[in-house]
Amino acid sequence: MFYRLFALFSLIFCSNLYGGDIWLTWQNDPTSTMVISWLSSKETKPAHLFVSYRKYGSEDDSWSKFLSTIIPFPADEDKFICYAELLGLEADTEYEFRIKNNEEIYRFKTAPNTIDKPISFIVGGDTLEDNTSLFKVTNKRAAKYEPLFVAIGGDIAYAVTNTKEDPRRWQKWLEIWFETMRIDSNRLIPIVAVPGNHDVRGGFDRAHKDAETFYALFRSPTRREYTVLRFGTYLSLYLLDSGHAIPVNGVQKVWLQEELKKDALMLHRMAVYHVPAYPSVSTLDQKYCARVRKHWPPIFDKYDLHFAFENHDHAYKRTHPLRNNKVNSKGVVYIGDGSWGTNPRLPIQAPNAQYLAETRSEQQFCYVTISKKKRSIEVVTPDGRVLDKYSQTIKKK
Ligand SMILES: [Fe+2]
Repeated sequence: MFYRLFALFSLIFCSNLYGGDIWLTWQNDPTSTMVISWLSSKETKPAHLFVSYRKYGSEDDSWSKFLSTIIPFPADEDKFICYAELLGLEADTEYEFRIKNNEEIYRFKTAPNTIDKPISFIVGGDTLEDNTSLFKVTNKRAAKYEPLFVAIGGDIAYAVTNTKEDPRRWQKWLEIWFETMRIDSNRLIPIVAVPGNHDVRGGFDRAHKDAETFYALFRSPTRREYTVLRFGTYLSLYLLDSGHAIPVNGVQKVWLQEELKKDALMLHRMAVYHVPAYPSVSTLDQKYCARVRKHWPPIFDKYDLHFAFENHDHAYKRTHPLRNNKVNSKGVVYIGDGSWGTNPRLPIQAPNAQYLAETRSEQQFCYVTISKKKRSIEVVTPDGRVLDKYSQTIKKK
């Protein structure tokens, strides 16, 4: 109610608002919804608070209009986020939309209901530390793969240093994402994200209020901090907080266990979070890694998670399948370690860690393809080299 009133107030009094960069996310069913968000300032015109949309290729002029909810942008009091969650969309369908009449038209695509043909998406983390060109070049390579969506595992804009947050870094990130993450010049690629220590004021063991900007950008005004996205009956993607604004233990852990229990028949089960349980650069006994490893892998083991995408260490790693902290062919594979747009570090744990199957000091992302028969990953560098390939064949029960 507060946000609706805020939207109406803004419509009446903020007659000169300006529409900024656009990003897409999912908060609910990816087969029938899409969240369109954009950043506005007090110069925005009222028309910029509406999104018009229709199925791509419609011949008549039947645009549906939807009034966005306005959310304060916590990092900058002169800015607002316009948030529009479109519901009741058709699965596996392209839509076109515009933020006001006669302005540029963009497109998005909903996820399929079923996995009749292979589906691909991308996972990576630690995206824009200091060097924007490292971020841009990886974005451009990722967009060429035309993924259904991109999952980012935290340390997104590095807007937070210790307890200070710099809003310009979020704005720069949104601007570059909007410019580069497109298919065929105007189809925007949805992002689903989790927080890292550089997205939350104070980094670790903080509270909801310390991650206000992250939530305002990547969660709905009413959605909880951690979530699972279910794509039909073929993919569950768990988006977790590895101890930044929400404890690893406690209600998040209870929730994770309950949700994984529901997913016994889900074809592919994967999790994305920031701090690695099985690091490649940090030591195994580093306190935040040890904490994640203590609480989550036992649950992953119990409910047969397939892949856990980890970040934060700025290198590439893939573990052997692990169960009960030991190599086991039926175990969970931990992959990632987050170097989308950072200068990569040396994976110094590699010689000592029996759990690591592959490590590299390279910028990279994981290109994931799932089908009825297989789940596979290609690890790709910004210049297009494939660093590693890994796949699992699905056994019939
Ligand atoms: Fe981090």
